[in-house]
Amino acid sequence: MTQAAPRSAILGTGSAVPATVVTNDDLAKIVDTSDEWITTRTGIKERRVLEGDKAASDLARLASERALEDAGLDVADLDAIIVGTCTADYQFPSLACVLEAKLGARDVFSFDVNAACSGFLNALSVSDMFIRSGRVRNALVVGSDVLSRFLDWQDRSTCILFGDGAGAAVVGVSDDDDRGILSSRLQTDGSYAETLYIRAGGSKKPATQETVENREHSIFMNGKEVFKVAVRSMEEISRRVLDDAELCVDDVSLVVPHQANRRIITALAARLSIPMEKVIVNVHKYGNTSAASIPVALDEVRREGRIADGDIVLLNAFGAGFAWGAAVIRF
Ligand code: COA
Repeated sequence: MTQAAPRSAILGTGSAVPATVVTNDDLAKIVDTSDEWITTRTGIKERRVLEGDKAASDLARLASERALEDAGLDVADLDAIIVGTCTADYQFPSLACVLEAKLGARDVFSFDVNAACSGFLNALSVSDMFIRSGRVRNALVVGSDVLSRFLDWQDRSTCILFGDGAGAAVVGVSDDDDRGILSSRLQTDGSYAETLYIRAGGSKKPATQETVENREHSIFMNGKEVFKVAVRSMEEISRRVLDDAELCVDDVSLVVPHQANRRIITALAARLSIPMEKVIVNVHKYGNTSAASIPVALDEVRREGRIADGDIVLLNAFGAGFAWGAAVIRF
């Protein structure tokens, strides 16, 4: 008789954001913008910016330690560390390897996935596959990004949008077949690669004095295009993961979407016909923290006791690539 593949579940979560708060009024002192413009167009009021002597791995470490504590597990219980990030400490090695050393993990394999703002969902989905295959029992899944280091602080169209943070989840074999990650899907459309990207610093255009002078090491974005495709794509993939899990929109207890812009989130909720009371929004506090946004929001709602046993939680994300994804979890 063949045994059913084990289901994976989130056993614990943790998050960490820098202490330094940058408000919209602070930004209005350095670029031609206002609290009113930023709030109306994005819903963002403030964001956290990492202090100069720290890197993405420092936030990732804090979030990971909190997730392990929440799960009641030790670092020795981990088989794998998978980090979603596009702002690792180094070009290489991976942030996951740096994190592994900082946590003192041994006998694990660690790697990054770069799907920009979708990074956590990609990492979660990959961990789910490893657990289902039987190769991994417990994985640490992290989203950590420090986009403040890749912003042009003279470009008002991008510097107002992003913030720094890290979130983590310990994902392990579920002890209840009905609970855990019910379905997940990932998708990409690389034809949009240059709609949201950093032009220089990669193999195509390595750093030179000229690239620095031309400010090509910071985010370039066609915001309107991102907005349009994000809403449409997140709606489609959310419906597909719900179908995969044989659930409908009304079954969803809570949506934890990627926090890029309040208007994207409300447009998505409207298209899915999900009331905003069921949709988590914390973008006003942190801005867009890229791969960290979903695990930070998930950790906050779990700690606030907003997720009860049996609740169906829908996660969905969208970002550079374009890369997007969704997952349905029964807690
Ligand atoms: N403060 C004041 N004015 C600003 C501004 C700022 N921070 N940024 C842009 N503007 C100006 C523009 O220069 C433009 O002026 P103009 O009409 O004189 O040319 C005007 O505001 C409208 O700009 P526009 O880009 O059309 O605004 P928008 O309504 O599309 O909103 C975004 C811009 C970026 C907020 C919006 O497109 C967006 O959120 N897109 C998605 C971005 C995103 O989430 N990316 C990450 C995905 S993971």
